[in-house]
Amino acid sequence: MFRLANVLLVAVLVAPGVVAQASGKFDNIGRIATPAEVQKWDIDVRPDFKGLPVGSGSVVLGQQVWEAQCASCHGVFGESTEVFTPIAGGTSKDDIKSGRVANLSRDDYPQRTTLMKVATVSTLWDYINRAMPWQSPKSLSVEEVYAVTAFILNLGDIVPDDFVLSDKNMAQVQGMMPNRNGMTTDHGLWDLKGKPDVRNVACMKDCKKEVVITSFLPGSAVDSHGNLIEQNRPIGPTRAMDTSKATKK
Ligand code: HEC
Repeated sequence: MFRLANVLLVAVLVAPGVVAQASGKFDNIGRIATPAEVQKWDIDVRPDFKGLPVGSGSVVLGQQVWEAQCASCHGVFGESTEVFTPIAGGTSKDDIKSGRVANLSRDDYPQRTTLMKVATVSTLWDYINRAMPWQSPKSLSVEEVYAVTAFILNLGDIVPDDFVLSDKNMAQVQGMMPNRNGMTTDHGLWDLKGKPDVRNVACMKDCKKEVVITSFLPGSAVDSHGNLIEQNRPIGPTRAMDTSKATKK
């Protein structure tokens, strides 16, 4: 059974130099988070390495951390597909040179691994630091996060066996990430330049009066996975289609 926590803590995000004040709206509820509490939440590491703690960790230590705390789910070489797509594999020395992973443009390549996709080493560090190991997030020390990140990079032949990853050389390692040039803004999502991030043209005449949002199953997919309604939970808002009766168009 779930219980509501009897202590309510109001977290306030504090921008540098700005003193957060309770608005008065929530008088007598919670309290302002202390700087120490905010600091514990404020752990993001940015692509420009802002937020990266000072420290280091070796591939050798990383292998020990990996085998003890990560391999059970991700495989000894980061190759397992058991809980998630593989962490390592699919990248080459040429990719490290070009910064684009060639296998990403192949339709017949069986998997997209983390090292194939990730463009920024800070993301790898940050994600492990905040979320891994799965059953015990935030339990790794700073040294262990550096070390296990170094080990993953070593699995991809990005850094050598005797490498020690640190806040000092992260930028240099960034320059060797196999998919570092793989980021795109062609989708228009972030390259705003003061404009909205959509490319629709506003309708100015004979526009639809009412917008109806709908979804449909293409005819070709109707009976390709059995009767969908039998595979859906019977409660809640999700209702599937009875595809045994639907006609294939
Ligand atoms: C109990 C199983 C388990 C263990 C142990 C575990 N992981 Fe994971 N890991 C997962 C799962 C599940 C995901 C996918 C999570 C998601 O996408 O929400 C994941 C995702 C990741 C990713 C992100 C991959 C991507 O492409 O998005 C990395 C990196 C990673 N784990 C590293 C580690 C490291 C390092 C350790 C050891 C310190 C570790 N994991 C231990 C289950 C585990």
